[in-house]
Amino acid sequence: MTDAINTERLALRPWNDSDVDFVYDLYSRWVVQRFIGNEPAVMESRSEAVDRLERFKALDHPVHGIWAVTRKEDGLPVGTLLLKPIPASGEEPLEPSSDVEIGWHFHPDHWGNGFASEAATAVLEHAFAGGLPQVVAVTNPANEASQSVCRRLGMEHRGLSKKYYNAQCELFVIGNPALAAD
Ligand SMILES: CC(C)(COP(=O)(O)OP(=O)(O)OC[C@H]1O[C@@H](n2cnc3c(N)ncnc32)[C@H](O)[C@@H]1OP(=O)(O)O)[C@@H](O)C(=O)NCCC(=O)NCCS
Repeated sequence: MTDAINTERLALRPWNDSDVDFVYDLYSRWVVQRFIGNEPAVMESRSEAVDRLERFKALDHPVHGIWAVTRKEDGLPVGTLLLKPIPASGEEPLEPSSDVEIGWHFHPDHWGNGFASEAATAVLEHAFAGGLPQVVAVTNPANEASQSVCRRLGMEHRGLSKKYYNAQCELFVIGNPALAAD
């Protein structure tokens, strides 16, 4: 069960079936998909959105989650926040590694408000309160907006890495402050 998380302006909640139109709208946009995956592609049918929503809802873990990020003032969905095991590079199909990644996909209507950073800050707090030793993030080297989010979160830039997703990505890492050496 994905825990609800509240921030000053946002409510992060589990996905539900009524979110399918938002999921389709979000992932059918090239500006959202262009830096995601080795062969970026937009969603082309509502049934793909239904399948994606089912996968979002299927993640059942006490700490990991895939949240619908909504605006508190009116409940409007604005994006997706993910905290889940990251696939290690290797033979396809890729297996999840023991490392946990944080990720964000926001609707372009809501970029430039600090929403991704606000939601991700809260999810990192949740991750560390749940005992995760560290969280990683990977971005396409050209995805400067996402790298800026990583920096706003205080993640350390480790440079280019081929460790995950069979792709060369910019790797960012943040350790659990409660586990840091004195
Ligand atoms: C990556 C992505 C989430 C970044 O979104 P974003 O809105 O730029 O990120 P933030 O939430 O951190 O917002 C920061 C921006 O809001 C502005 N802002 C406004 N109010 C703010 C506030 N209260 N707090 C922080 N920033 C604020 C900042 O100045 C900054 O704007 P700038 O980039 O013009 O300098 C977005 O581009 C996206 O969804 N892209 C498509 C999916 C994707 O590529 N995901 C990542 C895959 S690795």
